[in-house]
Amino acid sequence: MSKTIIISNRLPLQINIEDNNLEVTPSVGGLATGLKSFHKDGDSIWIGWSGLTLEEIPENLLEDVKAKARKEDCVAVNLTTEEIDGFYYGFSNRTIWPLFHYFMEYTEGNTADWETYKAVNRKYANEILKHYEEGDQIWVHDYQLLLVPNMIREVAPEAVIGFFNHIPFPSYEVFRTLPWRNEVLEGVLGADLIGFHTYDYERHFLSSVSRILRHQVNFNEITLQDRIVKVDSFPMGIDYTKFENAAKEHAKNTEEQSTELQRRLDDHLKETPDAKLILSIDRLDYTKGIANRIRAFEYFLDHHPEYIEKVRLVMLSVPSRSNVPQYQRLKREIDELVGRINGKFSTVSWTPIWYFYRSMPFKNLIDLYASCDIALLTPIRDGMNLVAKEFIATRAKQTGVLILSEMAGAAHEMNEALIINPNNFEQISSALIQAIKMPVEEQQQRNKVLQKRLKRYSVEKWANDFMETLQNTRTHRDSFKST
Ligand code: F6P
Repeated sequence: MSKTIIISNRLPLQINIEDNNLEVTPSVGGLATGLKSFHKDGDSIWIGWSGLTLEEIPENLLEDVKAKARKEDCVAVNLTTEEIDGFYYGFSNRTIWPLFHYFMEYTEGNTADWETYKAVNRKYANEILKHYEEGDQIWVHDYQLLLVPNMIREVAPEAVIGFFNHIPFPSYEVFRTLPWRNEVLEGVLGADLIGFHTYDYERHFLSSVSRILRHQVNFNEITLQDRIVKVDSFPMGIDYTKFENAAKEHAKNTEEQSTELQRRLDDHLKETPDAKLILSIDRLDYTKGIANRIRAFEYFLDHHPEYIEKVRLVMLSVPSRSNVPQYQRLKREIDELVGRINGKFSTVSWTPIWYFYRSMPFKNLIDLYASCDIALLTPIRDGMNLVAKEFIATRAKQTGVLILSEMAGAAHEMNEALIINPNNFEQISSALIQAIKMPVEEQQQRNKVLQKRLKRYSVEKWANDFMETLQNTRTHRDSFKST
């Protein structure tokens, strides 16, 4: 029987070692959390990195790591510290990531990292080929593995290969600055179907292909010598019912069943019953606009002191890529900003910002989502932003207001939110006031529409749509060959 081979940089599980014992925790990040339910329900194996370098795994535990992964239908790719440095911290996160998010001033690039990126992509491709059997479908994910589709195609020309990019694809004018632009495009074009979250990313990609590689592009199809490659947009959804049900359960919890975090959130409500909690949740990443968000919050309090003691910003930043200097600098900048603003506005009974720098278990995430009245998500650039969707899914009574950056892929599907430009503090400040004052009926009207849409286009639907289109593309490809 044929199977689907999912392949991404990281596995949906993270393996840690504590006192010579293996501990398995779920991976954070949109891709892993999003695709997990598709993997669990289907006939698939998932190939990826376990989160530990080869040097971090004692030899006697290597087999156990494999076994833990296998239990979850996963295959762990072993990567050395040197490979992780050049491939993950290097080319993926110091070259591609900033470039694709339009942070050109952060974009570095050197041949050594590029060589490691190629070698590691080859390692992933070889691992796929070990498990590949004719009839299988291969689904490659994200910018860390841009070269994998063609590496597979060279060895298995008949393979059915899909590629999905979870981050933006930049405009041609930005992409063309990459020294390895031809190789990257040729790598991705090994796929039969290439997916993006939005139509804009799709057309940027098509324009780069036609202008750099000079391939013929008709609407959303690229004609190669012996194949047609289809490009399309598939906005990724969430496991909607998981969040919806968790929020319903949360609403039923008695005081004894609630977490310590929830008790603190409840205390806030008791002390200041008409105050609003404003939530932000992100990986600590410069693309997420966290520093600007805090500055916008300062602007809001400066210009509207009537809201002092009437609002609180609850910020969760999940540690990420902490070996990359820009992430280290951002961490210091945020620490400093939070300290300064809390120092500037705090009163004896109130602190404007609660800041958590850690990852949180799912139960606590639900506490945050369910207890907050407003979500303030202000990425400077974001492929999608699943947090926006999760916030809406947890509105058990359809109350609450989402303020969302127009630079997030999710904004294209969430017009009923208050859409803002993350660089416009005046606009963010007005949106906060609009959110605070919004009548309950209006909140419910907006959220009802959003919920209906998100429930319909869940992650499962997204994955099935992609896979169906991949199958059709394959059929189309075969008929193209026989003409
Ligand atoms: O969606 C972009 C992405 O890089 C995913 O590939 C990844 O799952 C997530 O962000 C988290 O990033 P990282 O794996 O670098 O921690």
